Amino acid sequence: MASAPPIDASLMPRHVAIIMDGNGRWAKARGLPRPLGHKAGVAAFRPIVEACGEWGVETLSLFAFSTENWARPKEEVSALMGLIEEYFNRELQNLLDRNVRLSLFGDPAGLPEGPRAFVLRAVEKSAQNTGLRLNIALNYGARAEIARAARLLAEEAVRGALLPDAIDETLFASKLYSAGLPDVDLLIRTGGEMRASNFLLYQIAYAEFLSLPCFWPDFGRETLAEALRAYAGRERRFGKL
Ligand code: IPE
Ligand code: IPE
Ligand code: MG
Repeated sequence: MASAPPIDASLMPRHVAIIMDGNGRWAKARGLPRPLGHKAGVAAFRPIVEACGEWGVETLSLFAFSTENWARPKEEVSALMGLIEEYFNRELQNLLDRNVRLSLFGDPAGLPEGPRAFVLRAVEKSAQNTGLRLNIALNYGARAEIARAARLLAEEAVRGALLPDAIDETLFASKLYSAGLPDVDLLIRTGGEMRASNFLLYQIAYAEFLSLPCFWPDFGRETLAEALRAYAGRERRFGKL
């Protein structure tokens, strides 16, 4: 049964984005190898996806693997890719049952065959769903996303389909992976760091930022509820008085 939202619906963020950090430190604190931290991290997806769906968050964006994370040791990268593949294989039916619509933020061409096939299959199978918009950022970097948007606009201009003067913030945003989605209202980072690490730089312009000490594998429904309560207590001014 769906649980009641922790805050009033009128205060609910439309778009929650999470930098899921701290898997490695979670494992280290337990004397476990880092890949087991990632395994526990992937297990933490489901309750958060379910809670967002139940509580009326429209869009949830999860940072799973950055363009910079390829520079990690190859054993760790392949363990992560294997876990991602496994997650989408195992969870696809649950996502579909919950009316979740999945999108991939990042270039699928840069992913190994296995995870690419499973993620793209989930994107395709869920394309008609009307519930929670779940964006999985995989091989994602905000600078790469912004450069890609500029390239797409330049291609249109070169074809003569677009005048440079027509490029404004709205048109630019329509070339990002997040096209058509609301800006990020609440950006949560687990693991305690106070940095954006190249996540959704265009979309977080006026997001409320919350850095939590808890490592991602320990982040659950109650931590999310607390984050939403903290968000509901913020005063958002958007530059006005
Ligand atoms: C986040 O956990 C997951 C990914 C970046 C893929 P980390 O692996 O960065 O964990 P820490 O920051 O080293 O603890
Ligand atoms: C950000 O975490 C990327 C993801 C959570 C996927 P990192 O661990 O890669 O970030 P830094 O290196 O601490 O900035
Ligand atoms: Mg980290």
